[in-house]
Amino acid sequence: MRPFAIVPALLSWLTIVDCVSTGGGFCDPETGDDFQRAHVGLIISPIMSIRMIREIEIYWNHVKYRSGDTIALYESSLPGELTDDLEPIYTLIPNAPSGIKRTGLQAAFVPTSSLTFVQQCLQYHVAWLRNGTIRQTNCLQTQPHWMAARRDILGSLPMSRMFMPGTHDSASYAIHERANSENIVERFVITQDVDVLAQLIYGVRYLDIRVGHYPNTNSIWWANHGVFKSVPMQNVVNQVKFFLDNTNEIVIFDIQEFPVGFGKNLGVHHDFVGFLEEQFAGYYLPKSYGWTSTLNTIWSSGKRLIIGYDEKRVVSRYESIWPCVTHQWGNVRNIEDLFNYLNRIETESLGHPRAIPRSAMAELTPNTWDVILNRLGSIRQMAEKVNINVTNWYNSKWQHTANIVAVDFVRSSGIIETAIEWNERRNSHC
Ligand SMILES: *[C@@H]1O[C@H](CO)[C@@H](O)[C@H](O)[C@H]1NC(C)=O
Ligand SMILES: *[C@@H]1O[C@H](CO)[C@@H](O)[C@H](O)[C@H]1NC(C)=O
Repeated sequence: MRPFAIVPALLSWLTIVDCVSTGGGFCDPETGDDFQRAHVGLIISPIMSIRMIREIEIYWNHVKYRSGDTIALYESSLPGELTDDLEPIYTLIPNAPSGIKRTGLQAAFVPTSSLTFVQQCLQYHVAWLRNGTIRQTNCLQTQPHWMAARRDILGSLPMSRMFMPGTHDSASYAIHERANSENIVERFVITQDVDVLAQLIYGVRYLDIRVGHYPNTNSIWWANHGVFKSVPMQNVVNQVKFFLDNTNEIVIFDIQEFPVGFGKNLGVHHDFVGFLEEQFAGYYLPKSYGWTSTLNTIWSSGKRLIIGYDEKRVVSRYESIWPCVTHQWGNVRNIEDLFNYLNRIETESLGHPRAIPRSAMAELTPNTWDVILNRLGSIRQMAEKVNINVTNWYNSKWQHTANIVAVDFVRSSGIIETAIEWNERRNSHC
């Protein structure tokens, strides 16, 4: 790592922060528009019962909200259709500057095969109305090109200065079309409800991958969560390549854990790196580029996949794998402690610029007794509890320092739209 290489970058970043804090909000001239910092969005609840799946929820963050304001949900795919006389399918009256509300409505099932590589709204729109007029709108949407589409403002940044949406244990997903119940293992193993390709199309650019070695199965390499195997690694690799083939986006594929079948000697690691090199031939960026490379440099190389690997003794032997992203885990069991932990790491990061990106792991961590006694609920319930708070915090407190933020059940957070918005705001020079 070459720490001095990022000092000039840090200085320009500090200038931006200064501009924001003295400007009274963003670099735009003051327009007096109450809605400049307002946010209203749609999420898909991670909660699944035998009666309900994919419940639509509305969240908002609007300091200058007024009594009489209304939030309305519409079923419509095209923003142009959102006219004043379209009938909403649900309305609510916000009674606090920020909040979240369940609607009791189930979102339609969208299989990955029907997602495209064109940014699109998926069926539902939400609008903030004041005195009967639509003032702000948003929709459930895909973001397959957000990085490349902002090349002008993001191209000069290294990965450590991007605000990147990520998923925790990205390949530990289960796709349910219909409401269903989960067994005890699924309740504590499944972290996502869409596959890796869909996560990428929705806008995730950081993948946290754990791998198991099962020499007696056809697939040999599996994506795991702890000791449980979920999907053959081949399948995950194919999804990532398909995404890279159809976009100009940059993806971090970070191998973070080796929970099964790697043992103490490094032989299995060498086999696995061989698998990665063969599978991702022509895709991965050589390590000699280094974490201080800017997005423009990565784009010029024509290779848009960075493979992180959490085993130093192996990383040093190959040009294909990079030192992994630093995971920042609070190991906390309630939301107040999660806030305190994230607040600490985001505040500390201000004085400590780093070359290797870091990922704030924005989840609760149950202990063994919590699992046995079901004290914190399932991963779905924990995600439901924290994801909108995490989103609002990263929208209003740590938007200037955020690097990678990794969540469970990413569609139940607003972290993707938050990251895109703040990547724009914090890099648009006055
Ligand atoms: C989490 O968000 C809810 C709804 O906005 C809010 O009422 C609550 O105070 C937040 N909790 C924390 C710890 O910030
Ligand atoms: C709301 O709209 C009505 C009718 O257009 C108008 O008379 C009134 O002044 C508006 N109120 C506010 C607070 O803008």
